[in-house]
Amino acid sequence: MSEEEGVRLQKVMAAAGVGSRRACEDLIAKGRVSVDGVTVREQGMRVDPETAVVRVDDMRINTGTSRVYLALNKPRGMVTAMSDPQGRPTVGDLIEQRTDRLFHVGRLDADTEGLLLLTNDGELSHRLTHPSYEVPKTYFAEVVGPIARDVGRRLKAGVELEDGLARVDEFRLISSSGNRVMLELVLHEGRKHIVRRLLEEVGHPVQRLVRTAIGPVLLGDQRAGKLRPLNAQELAALYAAVGM
Ligand code: URA
Repeated sequence: MSEEEGVRLQKVMAAAGVGSRRACEDLIAKGRVSVDGVTVREQGMRVDPETAVVRVDDMRINTGTSRVYLALNKPRGMVTAMSDPQGRPTVGDLIEQRTDRLFHVGRLDADTEGLLLLTNDGELSHRLTHPSYEVPKTYFAEVVGPIARDVGRRLKAGVELEDGLARVDEFRLISSSGNRVMLELVLHEGRKHIVRRLLEEVGHPVQRLVRTAIGPVLLGDQRAGKLRPLNAQELAALYAAVGM
């Protein structure tokens, strides 16, 4: 890239939602901005927004206009696929008009609701779904009770499933009334039907399952079937969670 190519750093930062150009110039002057790992203090540096790795206070920002990151609250009954031979509604239906070639990051069962990320960033997607990066996923589960006292301990210690040992990182009893029990579980692995199989194995079949968080990104009160772009803070935290 020659001197005159690229886009001025403060303009790239402002476009990424960091703040006004003036505020971005201040951040640069204070030495809080780095490009490709090197702190920048002079104004006017030009970068290629599609390839430069820009960090503010060590948090990476998304400078490329071609990279897209969306959060979906997947409704129950929707298949995590681009199309379905049985004609059921799919995640693909929601994005078929788009030209940015998005794909879903991992899967949720058709019967599971909640947070699913869609992106065209292959490296981020790979890291989010690979257990070695240990990104925690949080689930709300409604199960058949009454619940035995030692269920949390057993799930944390590890339960033998047909494809090997599985365990939860955290377990919390939210409420229990008669045979209606609500739980929160955190896991960093994503084997097929893992939460349903774990809870079935300890004697509590799942009635309803909702993924409420992927690392630092929360489902919040996002409506079922709706897509929303991740904001700059969520994206920076997500990059940080997978060491990008
Ligand atoms: N675990 C499950 O059992 N189902 C999901 O959809 C996600 C995690």
